[in-house]
Amino acid sequence: MIYHDSEHRLWVLSGPSSSYVLHLDEADRPRVMHWGPRLTPEQAASLLLRLPRPGFRPVEDPLEGSFDLIATGGLCYGHAGLQVRFADGTRDLELVFTGQRRTDRELVLAYADRHYPLAVECHYRLYGDVIERHLVLRNEGEPVTVVRADSATWVLPRLNGYRLSSVRGQWGAETRLHRAELPYGETVLTSRRGVTSHQANPWAMVDDGTAGEEHGAVYSCALAWSGSWRLTAQRLPTERVTLSAGAGHDPVTWELGIGEELVTPVCAGLYTEGGFGAASRAWHDHQLRHVLPHAGEIRPVLYNSWEATGFDVSLDGQIRLAESAARMGVELFVVDDGWFGTRTHDAAGLGDWYPNPHRFPDGLGPLIDRVHELGMRFGLWVEPEMVNPDSDLYRAHPDWVIHRPHRRRTEHRNQLVLDLSRPEVGDWLYRTLDELLAKNAVDFLKWDMNRPFTEAGPDERLWLGHVRTLYDVLDRLRAAHPHVRIESCSSGGGRVDLGILRRTDQVWTSDNTDALDRLDIQHGFSQLYPARVMGAWVTDSPNPYTGREIPLDFRFHVAMAGVLAIGGALTEWSQADLDRAAELVADYKRIRPLVQHGRQYRLLPPDGELSAVQYLASDGGEAAVLVHRRARRFGHADPGIPLRALDPDARYRDTATGEVHHGAVLLTHGLFPDLAPGDYASALVHLVRE
Ligand code: DGJ
Repeated sequence: MIYHDSEHRLWVLSGPSSSYVLHLDEADRPRVMHWGPRLTPEQAASLLLRLPRPGFRPVEDPLEGSFDLIATGGLCYGHAGLQVRFADGTRDLELVFTGQRRTDRELVLAYADRHYPLAVECHYRLYGDVIERHLVLRNEGEPVTVVRADSATWVLPRLNGYRLSSVRGQWGAETRLHRAELPYGETVLTSRRGVTSHQANPWAMVDDGTAGEEHGAVYSCALAWSGSWRLTAQRLPTERVTLSAGAGHDPVTWELGIGEELVTPVCAGLYTEGGFGAASRAWHDHQLRHVLPHAGEIRPVLYNSWEATGFDVSLDGQIRLAESAARMGVELFVVDDGWFGTRTHDAAGLGDWYPNPHRFPDGLGPLIDRVHELGMRFGLWVEPEMVNPDSDLYRAHPDWVIHRPHRRRTEHRNQLVLDLSRPEVGDWLYRTLDELLAKNAVDFLKWDMNRPFTEAGPDERLWLGHVRTLYDVLDRLRAAHPHVRIESCSSGGGRVDLGILRRTDQVWTSDNTDALDRLDIQHGFSQLYPARVMGAWVTDSPNPYTGREIPLDFRFHVAMAGVLAIGGALTEWSQADLDRAAELVADYKRIRPLVQHGRQYRLLPPDGELSAVQYLASDGGEAAVLVHRRARRFGHADPGIPLRALDPDARYRDTATGEVHHGAVLLTHGLFPDLAPGDYASALVHLVRE
């Protein structure tokens, strides 16, 4: 609901439990009066009485860091989300308010520069308590250089302290949660790689330092963009804090010609109470309701052949794996890298998207038919934004890659990035994939992107244009092939964000499939993103990346926390493991609606001996608890694990043992799962309300 008080130039944007209150001051600056618990319009208007008396200027300037649109100019020395350079070199913006457009859920506040013909619109859209914001810049004059255009600047109220939560990582170790006091100055989370990145992810949460998993207020924001980005968390010496996020990175700028418009991606903000658990659940809910294209669907159990075969792909080998996977209960069989062109290793073939004629002399048809006959859907790996210099595509179009004259073309994994901002490359990309999907009965694409940009220069058309073409191609392919589902992958979890999730169905979380490492990666992932999109494979033991040996049940119980998949060399597995795996797949299918569509409670984080996560059906009728003991130290008995959000007066039956538990006891004394005595013990407990 959006309320406007024209007399006081006040807007109140309210969700079910929070409000965002804006006031346009005498200089037309949008001052954030409140972001926090819900206020009535009358309560919101009363905040104006607390403004500093005109003519009184306290030593500590209370205005700096108070506006949700901060442009360079005047006495603004703090972080400015909007920075431009006019053709004559002027960098100051002097914005005047020119009007508003408003519905119940949408608000547009329009401004224009006092002299130069540049218009700036701030867009707000309410989805429950989530506010989505973006900017639109329109230039009617000489070309303007946009140095920075953050989609949103979020102003936090004065708190007793400020703690920043974010994730950091690297290849094979993505989304590891980092929670520490916000330093004074500017903390910049960023990707300069042309892709979201493994190193950081475009979201942040701030609390006053006392919030826990189940209590405390949390302010968070997330950017919906899959290219380079930056998020600046500013803490001023006056204890004002802002979070400001947008596409692009230094020194990339955007040239806005006469009559041109720049629409920034969306940055969403959310105020929640109830700790980090409640903040995460609210973000999960938002994505399930408003971001994911087919959120209501159950994601199938997937098999992927990459760890089993690497580049050694053959029709017989894939069929053997498919038959074994089908016996295990797999529902979607995905052939990874190595099926196309001359791709028998990573130095050739990328760009040539036709079946390797030696490996598949009759095309993919025989394999696809067999997979379908086995009752599974068929998926195919592609990395269509890339090219190997040793490929027909590169030989025909060497100028299609991102490059600069007089600079070497840096190869990474023996490949170069296609410049999707060139219209002919975008057209080729769409035509090629459209044809691939039209000619083959493919149900699923794993869309990979294995290297960041180099030699891209400051040409903003390329940095932004690449992502826009990617989005456009994905949107058009989905429209033309509505049954196809897509997984976003970028050397594991390098492209996970609210932008790509608007047009894909799940993501590949990490190339690291070691179940112990995965506990940390998944914990960080779950802070913002729902289990419904988190691809998680069970692979071989010892793990091919880490060499660690972990029992099959533990590996399964870790992967069941997301979209369960199998990625091991099944033809090498013992019959006992294959049989047990089939039982575990069946267990997962029973709890999968809870995992994929229920509410998630992180009961015990993965840094202790015991970790646990609970999923609760939206009607509260069923719960699934996954418990992992990494090591038993000093022979201690396991403590009970208190569950969350159950009905204290209800009884819950354990579907495996038939044991009946009182809700009140589970909530206080906790669940005592029957774990094997040693290290790497795990359990799945499925409780149904009686
Ligand atoms: C990187 C992905 O993350 C892997 O899962 C696999 O698809 C390889 N690329 C294939 O080249």
